[in-house]
Amino acid sequence: MNNPQVKESGANAVGHKNVVTAVATAIFDMFSNKGQMDPLPDDVRIDGKTCLVTGANSGLGKAVAIDLAKKGGRVIMACRGGHPEAGEEVKLASGNQNVEMIKVDLSDIQSVEKLCDDLRDRNVQIDIAVLNAGLMPLNARKSPQGFELMFAVHFLANRLLLERWTKDGVIRPNTDRDKTPRVIFVSSEAHQSSDPIDFNHFGEFNDYGIKEGLKYYGLSKLHLCLFANELSRRLNPEGETQVAVHSLCPGPIASNIARESPAYLKPILSPIMKAFFRSPEQAAEPVIYLACAKDMGERSGVYLHMMREKNTSVDAQDESSGSLLWEKSADLLSQHTQEPVSA
Ligand SMILES: NC(=O)c1ccc[n+]([C@@H]2O[C@H](COP(=O)([O-])OP(=O)(O)OC[C@H]3O[C@@H](n4cnc5c(N)ncnc54)[C@H](OP(=O)(O)O)[C@@H]3O)[C@@H](O)[C@H]2O)c1
Repeated sequence: MNNPQVKESGANAVGHKNVVTAVATAIFDMFSNKGQMDPLPDDVRIDGKTCLVTGANSGLGKAVAIDLAKKGGRVIMACRGGHPEAGEEVKLASGNQNVEMIKVDLSDIQSVEKLCDDLRDRNVQIDIAVLNAGLMPLNARKSPQGFELMFAVHFLANRLLLERWTKDGVIRPNTDRDKTPRVIFVSSEAHQSSDPIDFNHFGEFNDYGIKEGLKYYGLSKLHLCLFANELSRRLNPEGETQVAVHSLCPGPIASNIARESPAYLKPILSPIMKAFFRSPEQAAEPVIYLACAKDMGERSGVYLHMMREKNTSVDAQDESSGSLLWEKSADLLSQHTQEPVSA
């Protein structure tokens, strides 16, 4: 969503078309302090709020889960199986026992539906959702329903989660400032360098190799930013914020995201990440700002690049593409879901 007060849009430096330019741009971004916002005051609390964080067992998601728990939130960590220790680590690091692990494979529509059924059946009401899970596969792989994996995890899963949560009352629009739910999508500046979405071949699986991984990563994050902007418009039709929908790029993080990078790249990439990239704890700052700052509950459609407000790309702001994305993804999902998804 275009914020007229914020002029800047587009990729910084040399963009994100391949690993070399993406790393160079990431390092440039690290040293640029233009337009920095003030940090969130330490004493801001979210006691009594229910937070759900996807991909919370690792990297940014875990740091966000710890910060939200430290601020008094009840934290639901939605993770793929096999990480019970992560919940214990979050409890220990935050000193908050109100932390729960819930299992979901976001690449699998059936698993996403199961998570939604569970939340609905337990009458869970989410105040703050941080949709963070992400990946960078080495080459093209299919999800259980045959979609490209990043398209499935970065976009389709989030589209379905929000469809179900708004239908099931897990997220309830509310104009009372203190009760307005917030939805935060962790995207990436790589979306700014993406080719436009080809709606004639929407959701089709394309085989790609290591050289094109970043192209498809950026494309999946463009789907996510376009969706975030469309969702923000649909949930707040009168202009008054009923659900605060925001997205962000946390900046370069020394995390596990490059775990699939080829053996020959690791000796180069790992030291660069360690030396120049931010820790997950530092990278959590803008996420926590969007989740907890008072003014971010009163607005919707904000995009942050680290602690700077920016616009998403021109393609991500396009309203006709947003509604096409909405309709086409409803068709795709409805072929696999219990109930048809609203177009
Ligand atoms: N690292 C960066 O430089 C950077 C820059 C910009 C944006 N981001 C974005 O930041 C977010 C967090 O990434 P990170 O850097 O913290 O990487 P990370 O340490 O690899 O964390 C990614 C998380 O996503 C989870 N995940 C992946 N596929 C999943 C699936 N199918 N179902 C459920 N969970 C799944 C992972 O779970 P498992 O551990 O089970 O795989 C992990 O918890 C991502 O959206 C990423 O695109 C990262």
